[in-house]
Amino acid sequence: MIETQIEITRMGLEGQGVGYDLEGNIYFVPGALVGDKVKVKTKEERKKYRDAEIVELVEPTGKRIEPVCKYFQKCGGCDWLQWDYQAQLAAKEEIVKHILERGELRPVELLPIQKAEQNLFYRNRIQVRQLGKTVGFFKKKTHELVDIEECKVAAPGINEEIQKIRSENLGTSNEVTKIELYLGRDGKVHRFDNVAHSFSGFAQIHSGQNEVLRSRVAQIMREKKAKKVLELYCGDGNLTYAYLASVEKAWGIDASQSAIESARIQRTEEHESKAVFFADKVDHNLLRRLPQEIRDYDTLVLDPPRQGMLDCLPRFLHNQLKTILYISCSPVTFTQDVQCLKKDFILQTVEPIDMFPHTRHVELIATWVRR
Ligand SMILES: C[S@@+](CC[C@H](N)C(=O)[O-])C[C@H]1O[C@@H](n2cnc3c(N)ncnc32)[C@H](O)[C@@H]1O
Repeated sequence: MIETQIEITRMGLEGQGVGYDLEGNIYFVPGALVGDKVKVKTKEERKKYRDAEIVELVEPTGKRIEPVCKYFQKCGGCDWLQWDYQAQLAAKEEIVKHILERGELRPVELLPIQKAEQNLFYRNRIQVRQLGKTVGFFKKKTHELVDIEECKVAAPGINEEIQKIRSENLGTSNEVTKIELYLGRDGKVHRFDNVAHSFSGFAQIHSGQNEVLRSRVAQIMREKKAKKVLELYCGDGNLTYAYLASVEKAWGIDASQSAIESARIQRTEEHESKAVFFADKVDHNLLRRLPQEIRDYDTLVLDPPRQGMLDCLPRFLHNQLKTILYISCSPVTFTQDVQCLKKDFILQTVEPIDMFPHTRHVELIATWVRR
């Protein structure tokens, strides 16, 4: 197989380095970083690009660092621990820019990424696997279990719990147990063994960056003078309660009954008439199932799961709608969902947030206003 030398000029959506040879062929190279000069070997020739692997790191970028984690590249968790944090942030900004350009979205303002003050020991939720005496994570794209003593991105309380699990008498069963660990708002670590679905619904995994997200959403809602708000995918009201003080009314919808119950529990007397939560699925017919009074909202807040809104967004657009805030953990599905907004709305700002340091993932807030 022919070996080619290339320079990595950007990062791909799966966290791989991307570079071009002199004929303009594109190479996707796992483990390579922007600025690396690498000798690569093509593993698979695809229609528009080549999947390749590093044969030699000819000249590494000066932004490479010693990974703080000894399991890096054995365990499938982090993508970029061998890369200086500032360089990761720059790469995420470039990724967002690239995705927006590909989707022909030109925000009036693309703001710099909000970096995480805490980029290690931040995760408040993690799933470990246990098989006999081995406790850890699966290797990337395999079911091979990597034994770990400490996870450098998990919160300290979660690491303590991992130690406890390791010290248990685990027996010799051949069954892999899935253990979900969640550091709750009560400061306690909750443990759930072999539950089919996440036990407590969705929660943002970086508590510090969640506060950044909440305060930006609240600020945008004030600036846009949002009054009547329909919030789809509201979860337990994490964002709703951030902006509620400045609006007249908020209707929150989420498919998870337990998340809606937990949103309702947080209502104080003062909230009672302001925030109304419904457990229902967002689909093409949702508005018909909701009370008539909801239909004159002036602001729409959206925070869908990774797969996005699956063509439902046009059903929620109407003439009184002035502002749309779309919070996305998948910029690719975001660009697909919002194509229907281009005609009547302007994409005013896109603000990336580093919710998931040392991984390729990036969160963003996009604000659309009526033309
Ligand atoms: C990214 S989370 C956002 C939750 C919340 N905004 C927060 O900040 O914690 C996505 C939410 O969408 C909900 N969900 C997933 N599919 C849904 C659907 N088809 N209809 C309504 N809610 C859905 C999940 O239960 C989850 O709470």
